[in-house]
Amino acid sequence: MELRKGLEDIAIKETSITFIDGELGRLYYRGYSIFDLASFSNFEEVAYLIWYGKLPTRHELDDFKSRLAEERSISDEIASLVKRTAKTANPMDVLRTSVSMMGLEDKDDGELITKSMKITAKIPTIISSIQRTRANLDVIEPDPSLSHSENFLYMLHGSKPSRERSRMLDVGLMLHIDHEMNASTMACLVVASTLSDIYSSIVAGISALKGPLHGGANSEALRQFMEIGSQENVEKYVLNRLSSGQRLMGFGHRIYKSLDPRAKIIKDYLSKVSKDEETQRLFDIATKVEEIGIRILGKRGIYPNVDFYSGLLFHFLGFDLDLFPTIFASARVIGWSAHVDEYLKDNKLIRPKAIYVGDLGKKYVPIDER
Ligand SMILES: CC(C)(COP(=O)(O)OP(=O)(O)OC[C@H]1O[C@@H](n2cnc3c(N)ncnc32)[C@H](O)[C@@H]1OP(=O)(O)O)[C@@H](O)C(=O)NCCC(=O)NCCS
Repeated sequence: MELRKGLEDIAIKETSITFIDGELGRLYYRGYSIFDLASFSNFEEVAYLIWYGKLPTRHELDDFKSRLAEERSISDEIASLVKRTAKTANPMDVLRTSVSMMGLEDKDDGELITKSMKITAKIPTIISSIQRTRANLDVIEPDPSLSHSENFLYMLHGSKPSRERSRMLDVGLMLHIDHEMNASTMACLVVASTLSDIYSSIVAGISALKGPLHGGANSEALRQFMEIGSQENVEKYVLNRLSSGQRLMGFGHRIYKSLDPRAKIIKDYLSKVSKDEETQRLFDIATKVEEIGIRILGKRGIYPNVDFYSGLLFHFLGFDLDLFPTIFASARVIGWSAHVDEYLKDNKLIRPKAIYVGDLGKKYVPIDER
């Protein structure tokens, strides 16, 4: 039996959802290039594309958007859970428990995608409630007349965002919707393969995404830029970090061996938008870290990944730093559930093996004789 640490290079299923070309730095959702989708599409349309496998007609999209918008409110019980825990708990723990409660509350025999739509619609309400509760601000009720991203920023700040800002969040969310197989998607599939329910799968996905090697890297990358402080400190910081065996956060990827296209798209947006002084300073630091990081690590195929610039984007849009992984999760629910749906069409219980390396035939010694 061959041991493949981290299941590297092992395929768990066939998929027609997402294709990544790690060598060329290309990403396709249902065959469409992420560059085209980021330029011409929007969050709701891409969500539809990922779940239903085709671009919607205008009528289908309108219907889909209003169905999503109708599901944004959370129950009083979840609202009170968020209020009680927002100031002290890790936001990913609040989100995970809230989704678990959604599962308790959902008594419908609805389809998997319908249930996933409910989760997708409600997560921004939970995230903005966490941030506003912590800041002692009133929680804002969702506005169904706004798009997903407009409403997300509206609930966060209490005022309608500019077109530019809601577009930036829209693109940021689109880029996080799916990424083929990864630790959190795999966690969802493991749960789903036992024929458990979609809420349990999504709870597993959120749990896996929480770690700093996966969804937690976006806030770590931004912390790094804040710690560096100015462009002059970049070279010394990067060299010190790497020579002491630490990793550059937001760099490296199991599949991409060139620039992650999502990092490129966010960087392009950030470079064009008019920024406040702090974001400009952090952006300048980031571009310098990118340049020096690639100079040192690029020859080993280690380049910036999506988390390198996404933290900066979320910070620019006014999200608290420790909420970034929850924003990632808010979009990835779509990919997780689409993969679960696809996997269940040809389900096989996921049950790998371990290679036993311990002793056998040991003599049992009674406790008083040990
Ligand atoms: C994402 C990540 C876990 C993928 O790594 P992986 O495919 O499991 O590869 P490994 O962790 O085995 O790393 C392979 C080698 O590259 C090096 N490496 C990988 N990422 C690195 C980074 N960000 N900085 C410095 N070195 C890095 C490792 O030290 C290792 O070197 P070695 O072979 O000399 O021991 C890894 O690149 C990482 O930890 N990056 C930082 C966290 C991050 O940005 N995560 C977000 C991913 S989207």
